[in-house]
Amino acid sequence: MSLAGELKALDLDAQEPTEAYARDESGTGDYPPQAVVLAHSVLDVQKVLRFSKHRKIPVVPRGGGSGKSGGALAERGGIVLSLEKMNRIVEISRPDMVCVVEPGVILQDLQVAVEEQGLFYPPDPNSQAWCTLGGNLAHNAGGPRALKYGVTRDYVLGVEAVLPTGEFIHAGHRSWKGVAGYDITQLLVGSEGTLGVITQATLKLIPLPRRVATMLAFFPDEAKAALGVQKIFGAGLLPRTCELMDGPTMRALKGKAPFQFPDEVGGALIVEHDGNGDGVMEDLAQSGEMCMEAGAIDVVAAQDESQRRRIWETRRMISVAMSSIRPHKISEDVAVPRGRLVDLINAVREIGARYSLETACYGHAGDGNMHVNLLFASAEERVRGQKAVDEVIQTAIDFGGTITGEHGVGLAKRAFLAREQGPDLIALQKRVKRAFDPEDLLNPGKIFP
Ligand code: LAC
Ligand code: ZN
Repeated sequence: MSLAGELKALDLDAQEPTEAYARDESGTGDYPPQAVVLAHSVLDVQKVLRFSKHRKIPVVPRGGGSGKSGGALAERGGIVLSLEKMNRIVEISRPDMVCVVEPGVILQDLQVAVEEQGLFYPPDPNSQAWCTLGGNLAHNAGGPRALKYGVTRDYVLGVEAVLPTGEFIHAGHRSWKGVAGYDITQLLVGSEGTLGVITQATLKLIPLPRRVATMLAFFPDEAKAALGVQKIFGAGLLPRTCELMDGPTMRALKGKAPFQFPDEVGGALIVEHDGNGDGVMEDLAQSGEMCMEAGAIDVVAAQDESQRRRIWETRRMISVAMSSIRPHKISEDVAVPRGRLVDLINAVREIGARYSLETACYGHAGDGNMHVNLLFASAEERVRGQKAVDEVIQTAIDFGGTITGEHGVGLAKRAFLAREQGPDLIALQKRVKRAFDPEDLLNPGKIFP
């Protein structure tokens, strides 16, 4: 009997693997599992983990498949355990300002549901229309609004999870505060599906800001755009997003974006402020002035919601638009302290020139988390690209930053972990992994070198 057949016999919604479950958005390759199980309940998750333990077959939890580090790929085969059908918003509580969700809820569906009640769940990875909360929790997802509001972790109060040992735990609390014991909730958040399978989460909600104001500032080059970032923060402003696009990114967007760009544009910032009173417009105006001081060619403030949407649509199309420069890319998400942003951008350009490769940088400049892309067409360029990436990552570490600001280590970045973290820290994390998963069956091989 096939593995899927055996799992079906356990009354599980098991399937022969389809191609879709062999990949994600990391571009790290195809890893077909031997079977896919769609969990419909905690009991299903328990059955799969018990089966895995009994038969020593790896299990890889999976949400929407939007991950960019290969965290949901069945690198060693086994079972992909999809949580996509456990997609109930169990509860939204106004008095408690929390919601309770299953892992398969699509992020955007949650955002719409809570905003209808005047509440706000800020984390906003670019894939919000199709990524799941489970994946967001597993990878501690970020996004543009992380600048002001923090990342997924900052909104997780409690989780329920099934461990590879078969135990079912409730960690955390529903109250906004709680400090009892080790913070197992926060340990599971960002553990990339290697410690347990989250089956429910209690998330904190905040009041929905009543005003949002957005602008697009055009600069002659990315260095001036990065200077704009420094000036905005230097003026004591904290926008909710501050996204930078460099010259190559702007060239890739030109003609595709629903905006006319000035001819001489070589960099841009998307700055957004929010709040409740007139101060929001004042802050936006002041950010605009800071951009002009930094040498902006033009600053365009969105006049209505549809213009706001078009600005964000432009931001979201970057990844696809880049293929007009070169068909393929190696895409990184290093982060550096904000003060080193200009240095990082200059270093990327210098590294690209040395390897004769086109580069494009864009992303969450406000918090120093840049998407550095090495663009390539041929296999030979790819090899050069990988060497260049190595230097980009080392540069980020040397600047006091990190190999991954938001996408996670997965399998894409595990070769670099030991550059950022010392051997004792990695050994400690491996001991934690063993405490949760003594037989290394849950998402084995991820994160660690
Ligand atoms: C973004 C994804 C790549 O910010 O993280 O567009
Ligand atoms: Zn990002």
